Amino acid sequence: MDEFFIVGGNKLFGSVNIDGAKNSLLPILAGCILVDDEVLLKSVPRYSDVLAMIEILRHLGAKVEWQGQDLYINCRGICACDVPLELACKVRSSIFTLGPITARTGKAKVSYPGGCDIGLRPIDLHLAGLKQLGCKVIEKNGYIYVDGQKLQARDYMLPFASVGASENIMMLASCARGQTRIFNPAREPEIVDLERFLNGCGAKISGAGSNVIMVEGVKKLHGCEFSVMPDRIEAGTFMIACAMCEGEVELKNAIAKDNESLIAKLQKTACKIYCDRDRIVVKSKGRPIAFGEIETEVYPGFPTDLQAQMCALASICDGYSLIIENLFESRFKHIGELLKMGADIKMKNGVCVVHGKEKIYGAEVTSTDLRGGAGLVLCGLVAEGYTTVRKVDLIDRGYFKFEEKLRALGGDIKRIKCEKKVDNC
Ligand code: EPZ
Repeated sequence: MDEFFIVGGNKLFGSVNIDGAKNSLLPILAGCILVDDEVLLKSVPRYSDVLAMIEILRHLGAKVEWQGQDLYINCRGICACDVPLELACKVRSSIFTLGPITARTGKAKVSYPGGCDIGLRPIDLHLAGLKQLGCKVIEKNGYIYVDGQKLQARDYMLPFASVGASENIMMLASCARGQTRIFNPAREPEIVDLERFLNGCGAKISGAGSNVIMVEGVKKLHGCEFSVMPDRIEAGTFMIACAMCEGEVELKNAIAKDNESLIAKLQKTACKIYCDRDRIVVKSKGRPIAFGEIETEVYPGFPTDLQAQMCALASICDGYSLIIENLFESRFKHIGELLKMGADIKMKNGVCVVHGKEKIYGAEVTSTDLRGGAGLVLCGLVAEGYTTVRKVDLIDRGYFKFEEKLRALGGDIKRIKCEKKVDNC
């Protein structure tokens, strides 16, 4: 697995272009299964999770071709309804294919998903939604078998606002006869983006981003040309990087509204943040002041996908910070690696207390998951001396050309290629 070699101490100056959102692209790639026509997704970054979803679409019989950064997907030739273990285990988003394959072919046989090792990540809410809409669901021998012959629009009340389950049911319902209302859905911007994409293909969905999503089933979806929203987690990561390293960074193709909770916290650290329509500028001078407390919640609460990066920031802030993770029960694995760099962090019952240090030190550390790895990179950029971050393949799942973008801003970071590639299964 590749490594990053980082020499700490440089300030960051310049502009960075934010890529399309990974967590919008992944459900939309699954949604293409519903469309037996050509879909063009513009400016698609080659996140490794996107490449894994493309492998699944090709396995099902879809034609998927790159033309530069644009991705042409044609699911007219879909002839299979199964996603085997070796493909499903690479990404969490393989489970997002369950609804679309069932709606498209009338049945599905999908193995259990993979994804970052941040908790148990059950799929009970996905399966309950399929059953509520009339599907027969059997879990056997490591596979989920779905019979969708009796697919029927119906109300579904999500007991928890799960992002993936909301997306799965939206896609299943978009081709189910009648009206489906999804109560207590996730309200993340990526859900709104999925509605925008499916409606662009002729679906009749409304209410995404609110607490009820209405879906009028349609017989057929047609192709479309689509550009996903900017990646709010990549944008947040670069904003935190600037807060840590000092300097001035302009984020192009970044939507401030998607990161309101982060911006509010960064303004407490004495960062100056200027926002235009699709541009954010962060200015940071001197050691950041501790931001106080963050508690991760479903949107519009503080995003769990920025929790690790905020632990990195807290490690060098002047003062104490409290970080509470409510979404995933094992999403503090990066703390062990931060301690190797001299961070002063105490953990108790899912609560993390960070006493910021004036100085942390370079070390050999290992990415524990996608966002934990990104947090280690940020610490390497400010640490005294040099840092090696291992298992960079985990970071490649959700950041494209991460080290190149940081280097262009002045960060002293380079990738060391290691031949051995290991699947994340
Ligand atoms: C999506 O994961 C994102 N991944 C995650 O981003 C993100 O952290 C998460 O939403 C929360 O915002 C993608 O979109 C590909 P959930 P997902 O279902 O859909 C529990 C990243 O770093 N739950 O909202 O898996 C679950 O265990 C990744 O980009 C059930 O109990 O998240 C967790 O505690 C990491 N049963 C909570 O809900 C279910 O059936 C939130 O999960 C489903 C979920």
